[in-house]
Amino acid sequence: MPGGGEQTHFGYQSVPLEDKQGRVDDVFHSVARRYDLMNDLMSGGLHRAWKDALLTAVNPPKSERNFHVLDLAGGTGDVAFRIVGAGGHGTRVTVCDINAGMLEVGRERATARGFDGLVAFEQGNAEQLPYADRSFDCVTVAFGIRNVPRIDKALDEAHRVLRIGGRFLCLEFSSVDVPGIDALYELYSFQVIPRMGELVTGDRDAYQYLVESIRKFPRPKAFSRMIEAAGFRRASFTPMTGGVVALHSGWRL
Ligand SMILES: C[S@@+](CC[C@H](N)C(=O)[O-])C[C@H]1O[C@@H](n2cnc3c(N)ncnc32)[C@H](O)[C@@H]1O
Repeated sequence: MPGGGEQTHFGYQSVPLEDKQGRVDDVFHSVARRYDLMNDLMSGGLHRAWKDALLTAVNPPKSERNFHVLDLAGGTGDVAFRIVGAGGHGTRVTVCDINAGMLEVGRERATARGFDGLVAFEQGNAEQLPYADRSFDCVTVAFGIRNVPRIDKALDEAHRVLRIGGRFLCLEFSSVDVPGIDALYELYSFQVIPRMGELVTGDRDAYQYLVESIRKFPRPKAFSRMIEAAGFRRASFTPMTGGVVALHSGWRL
């Protein structure tokens, strides 16, 4: 191992741990303006149903009661807009993302939708959150955690900033184990998505990284154990769409 430092995966490549974040940042800077369009195209709109399942689990109060959600790696605000749209007057979301380009698109979208004041976009690293202990009622992360170099640190931080009785919810790509579907999914992932990414965003490598990073992410039982190791209780997960995605849950009790 060059220099003897710790290595990690950037897609299928082995890279020094300290280099991964910079590579991930380049990916999301490059695709930020076309990010939401690509999500619709490559998932055939399914990401909306997956995010709706996340929203159902968040279950923001319809009343005036204060309810503050932290949407980690929240990018352009898609999950945040759903939560404030469904909640009552006391529901607020802070989107925390490391990437200024994604946050800029998010702020523009929030203004266009009339969500200014309800959704705050703040730059921060999930591994070292700029928030006080026990300051949120719920922490969400959608399709973000696998991009973070030190996932265990991000889980520890999510646990630290969650109030006692609060829920952690994580939507992430998972493992397709249904015979027949797995082969089709493999074909679609590696033959179609990078080409589609090139056509729509001009960046094939970004979408090659995306499909490879999904394959390198821990299987759902292993990720559930990581959630428990961070101190969350009653960790569970629900596979969706034949295991393409799983919704993970844990409580701070
Ligand atoms: C696939 S996008 C998901 C965006 C959004 N949650 C959604 O579902 O549309 C992944 C996001 O993770 C962010 N990210 C990567 N590493 C991060 C880190 N260390 N801390 C916070 N955000 C990070 C990226 O900037 C990017 O916006």
